[in-house]
Amino acid sequence: MTIAFPSVSFTRHPIDLEADPLNPYKELGGEMGVRALVDRFYDLMDTSTGAAAIRAMHQPDLAEMRERLSLFLCGWLGGPQLHTDRYGPICMRTVHAPFEIDARTGDAWSRCMSDALEDCALGETTRDALRTAFTRTASMLVNAKRPEALKPQARRTGDLGK
Ligand code: HEM
Repeated sequence: MTIAFPSVSFTRHPIDLEADPLNPYKELGGEMGVRALVDRFYDLMDTSTGAAAIRAMHQPDLAEMRERLSLFLCGWLGGPQLHTDRYGPICMRTVHAPFEIDARTGDAWSRCMSDALEDCALGETTRDALRTAFTRTASMLVNAKRPEALKPQARRTGDLGK
């Protein structure tokens, strides 16, 4: 699926774009583009069997998280700090602390985001930079080990990732 983002007009934003040509928020087309990325991300999380463990951590209705992650990413990607404006400051580690996030779960999160980025109208340089940034951030939120994932038997029976 290809998401059509509104084109960024050089006549409206020439100075900003010259000063910061790789601002991902602008390259995505602003808030609307960020929301499209987040929608794609949660659609993938919702339907991918590899992401079932992450999906199970979320509420049945993803509407609230679509909103929260969109607002957060607007600021994180170089746009306005909409999440802070609405909810106040948050600590990412504290937000994720109630959930058992092992390396496999972190990878699944990054894969969903990487696939969602594939569907965005982004230049390769920005896309690669974002993949790296998301993957690094996800790995920093890993807070649990998963001993059973190390058992050879689990590998043979295809239990990993469940
Ligand atoms: C490492 C894998 C990750 C897992 C398993 C995970 C899981 C979760 C879960 C379960 C929630 C709460 C959902 C709910 O309350 O219904 C959450 C909230 C959130 N996550 Fe993650 N997350 C991960 C990585 C990330 C990354 C990399 C980012 C940002 C780049 C992020 C940004 C957020 C934000 C902004 C919220 C909402 C904060 C709030 O408004 O309270 N998460 N995440």
